[in-house]
Amino acid sequence: MMFTVAIDGPAAAGKGTISKAVAAHYGFAHLDTGLLYRAVGAKVLAGADPVVAAQTLQSSDLNTADLRTHDVAQVASQVAVNAAVRDALVTFQRDFARRDGGAVLDGRDIGTVICPDAPAKLFVTASAECRAARRHKELRERGDDISADQVLADVIARDKRDAERATAPMLAADDAIVIDTSDMTIAQAVAAAVAYIDVRRT
Ligand code: DC
Repeated sequence: MMFTVAIDGPAAAGKGTISKAVAAHYGFAHLDTGLLYRAVGAKVLAGADPVVAAQTLQSSDLNTADLRTHDVAQVASQVAVNAAVRDALVTFQRDFARRDGGAVLDGRDIGTVICPDAPAKLFVTASAECRAARRHKELRERGDDISADQVLADVIARDKRDAERATAPMLAADDAIVIDTSDMTIAQAVAAAVAYIDVRRT
């Protein structure tokens, strides 16, 4: 059985949490596609050429420690503007989406570019303030000593770069449902996602 769930949206909107919960609910495999760009970003920070890093990326690179840091996120967003980097990562994502047993992919362009034929598409969003507050809490808990203002400024800068780039910008697909998690609990957001996917599966 093949069934692809495409989940897009900006940073810290809750798409990772929802994706994991949806994958667990249906027994589907999950790919956080942001990790691909983060892994390329980490290699670039270490001195690699972005296109070569993307073309030679291995699954094992996704398990590298420290891909979740704030600095890596910013470089990931910068390398993600490069069309040749994006091209190099398409096949891996499409192969994952077509795996037997079902797949959930979360990112920025899954419903629009990577899996335009996915039967279930969600766009998970929240206000920039709300997302920055969540991300700040997460970073502080991880020991990152960054100010709330800096996190908000970076969230806004990253949104702008991700949404305004020429190739595969962050965008809700025309046929995606939009879930705004600003005033929702995790349980409510997951329930909304599952209710929508249940309908798409019948
Ligand atoms: O989801 P994330 O915060 O881990 O993603 C890091 C960056 O990677 C994000 O700012 C933009 C880029 N990205 C992308 O361009 N396309 C995707 N499908 C996933 C992430």
